[in-house]
Parts: sequence; structure tokens; C-alpha cells
Amino acid sequence: MTQHRDLRFVTLLGSLRQGSVNGALTRALPTLAPADVSIEHLGSVGDFPHYDADLQAEGFPEQVTAMGEAILAADAVIIVMPEYNYSVPGVLKNALDWLSRLPQTPFAGKPVAIQSASPGALGGARAQYHLRQVLVFLDAHVLNKPEIMIGQAGTKLDVESGTITDETTRNFVTAQLEALAAIVRKRN
Ligand code: FNR
Repeated sequence: MTQHRDLRFVTLLGSLRQGSVNGALTRALPTLAPADVSIEHLGSVGDFPHYDADLQAEGFPEQVTAMGEAILAADAVIIVMPEYNYSVPGVLKNALDWLSRLPQTPFAGKPVAIQSASPGALGGARAQYHLRQVLVFLDAHVLNKPEIMIGQAGTKLDVESGTITDETTRNFVTAQLEALAAIVRKRN
């Protein structure tokens, strides 16, 4: 019988809002992970200063270095975000810009899954394709399917309890976590 080591995934959230539906989705993930996978949340992207090459020249902010190390140590990253004006929220893009400048780029070769939730019908689909483009330059290995784009999120997620209330959505999310674990295992 093949012995598997346990896997560690980390989540990166692209919303700073207290009542965020994407925050609720992020909090639901640990309970849906395969038995041998743990999921921890990275720090807030809101703690990063605005990217400034002059600031970088003085030394990377501690929050950036810490998040970079946490990503390097993880087996995979799950990026959960809203769509803002058909694209990636600025706070998340800012964090990715900082992380991309670290001497050892933490996303290079890193398995990544993307999830988005929105009150709108398309669930943030357009932002996901912009994010995929950014992740090409970061050389991340982005999972193709299943895609998790949760439309009418208010009817499928409960912010108070941090749970996915819609069973079909829960099954899709569970399937994505299993697919992510499978590609990580295939590489190891
Ligand atoms: C939005 N929203 C939005 N929704 C969407 O489906 N497509 C979009 O392009 C946008 N654009 C957009 C721009 C800005 C500046 C804001 C503030 C909002 C609505 C957005 O999906 C909604 O506010 C979500 O609830 C935000 O996610 P969190 O914070 O609840 O996770």
C-alpha cells in the first residue's frame, strides 16, 4: 500500500470586508478538505503597504516575507476572491505584486486553485481569467477544473457561520479540493 504524507494547503483571501461572502467561503474550506489535507489561512492582504519599489529597496516588509515563506512551505495555495469591475481586487493584486518580487518567488511551480463568489450571476468568472493571466507570469501551476465560480452567493453561503449552505456548491468545492490534492500527490 502506498503511504501518503499529509498535505498542507493555505488560503489567500482577496476581500477585507467583515461580512465578506468570500471570507465565508474561505472559512468553510477546512471542513471540506480531504482527510489527509489541512487548510490554514494566510495573513490579510490588507496588511501589505502599497507596492513601491523604493520601499522594497529599503527591505521587504515583514508581512510580505512571512507570507512568502508560508506559501513556500505549503503544498498548494487556494486564492478566494471577489470580482471588482470584471477583474482582480486591487488589494489582492497588490499582494501578488509584492510576493512576486521576493528573491525566491513563492508561486513559481506552486499548485494553485482559484475560487470566487459574487451576488451576481457569473460568480466572478471574468476576474478569474484575469487572475490566471497574472499567475502565468508568476509561473504558478493553476488547476484548470473544476472551476469554482459561485453566483448568487448570498443564497449559497452563510456569512455568520462560515458555511456553504447549498449542497451542489459544497460538492463542487469538495471536488476541487480533491483535484488539487491529486495534482500535488502526482508531483511528489
Ligand atoms: C463589485 N461587485 C462586482 N460583482 C461582480 O460580480 N462583478 C463585478 O465586476 C463587480 N464589481 C465590483 C466592484 C467594486 C468596486 C465592488 C465594491 C463590488 C460586487 C461584489 O461582487 C460584491 O460586493 C461582493 O459581495 C464582494 O465580495 P465580498 O467582499 O463579499 O467577498
